Amino acid sequence: MHRVKIIKEFLKVKEITIKISGLHTEISTDSGTIKAVDDVGFHIEKGKVLGLIGESGSGKTMTAMSILRLVPPPGRITRGNIIFEGRDLLNLTKKEMESIRGNRIGMIFQEPMTALNPVIRIGEQIGETIAFHNNLSRSDIKQRVFELLRQVGFEDPEKRYIQYPHQLSGGQRQRVLIAIAISCNPSLLIADEPTTALDVATESQILYLLRQLISGQGMSMLFITHNLNIMRRFGDYVCIMYAGRILEVGSVEDFFSEPLHPYSRGLLDSIFAFKGDETRLKAIPGFVPKLSDLPEGCKFHPRCMYVMPICKKNEPEAKKIGEDRWVRCYLYQN
Ligand SMILES: Nc1ncnc2c1ncn2[C@@H]1O[C@H](COP(=O)(O)OP(=O)(O)OP(=O)(O)O)[C@@H](O)[C@H]1O
Ligand SMILES: [Mg+2]
Repeated sequence: MHRVKIIKEFLKVKEITIKISGLHTEISTDSGTIKAVDDVGFHIEKGKVLGLIGESGSGKTMTAMSILRLVPPPGRITRGNIIFEGRDLLNLTKKEMESIRGNRIGMIFQEPMTALNPVIRIGEQIGETIAFHNNLSRSDIKQRVFELLRQVGFEDPEKRYIQYPHQLSGGQRQRVLIAIAISCNPSLLIADEPTTALDVATESQILYLLRQLISGQGMSMLFITHNLNIMRRFGDYVCIMYAGRILEVGSVEDFFSEPLHPYSRGLLDSIFAFKGDETRLKAIPGFVPKLSDLPEGCKFHPRCMYVMPICKKNEPEAKKIGEDRWVRCYLYQN
């Protein structure tokens, strides 16, 4: 009996909400085509948070926009697979994609003010998304809006329903956007720097709320940030992006206890670390390269203290190191 249980545990397949592989998104510019997303791949399990981390311009938003098929022209997805709930999003028609966006995949973006319509009441804005994806009566929609407002922490949903965005604080507006994002019970939530515009206390409240929603509803989340400290507290997996590529993927525990890629190590070192009473801040030398002017070989090699001749010639493949652990670096190719 015990043996059967062990075998069942062993065979238990992880439930994957989304699996992205070989994703390429290019942008045509006056000075040629740039690869904003280059061979990106990762997956997110049910109920888990994957943090997509990278410096400004590394391609985080472009990756999110590619998943949602909202890449603005002159950008376009040229290759890849995005398997979500058994279908490849890249093969869906525009109409099919519309029925997924805001419904099966919820989205939260950085700017709480610009994402809301200033002349429409809060309650109606939340209700619009529900009405678009569901065939519900007006009173059912209103009840659902009250329920959502309560769920995101408003104790007075009736009052909030009739307010306009300017009557709310930044943190409250972000709560409204979260209510819209989860209004149709999505299985995946994509949040692009959702707390960057907020103060630290409000940020903590929003992160706590998102965590509760994930555990309560078994949602998965793609959380985009440049802040490693947030991911340490909030994430399950970390995915490090640099110049359009994924350099490392690993669980939060593995990543923070032993970052593999020299860039990841540099990122961790550049966070303030306290050693006795001494504070140190080590920066990674050099600059993030322009996508229009990338070096040959590994894109990080000009800044890497472990650079080898091969790094300057060829780009390393992503190599599996362990369970859910990948790194793209010649230090780990043997
Ligand atoms: N319309 C465009 N024309 C040319 N380049 C573009 C265009 N849109 C985006 N890019 C480039 O694509 C790259 C990826 O941009 P993206 O917005 O995904 O970066 P990001 O990682 O989200 O940065 P941030 O942290 O600043 O939000 C950047 O180098 C950017 O300059
Ligand atoms: Mg961005």
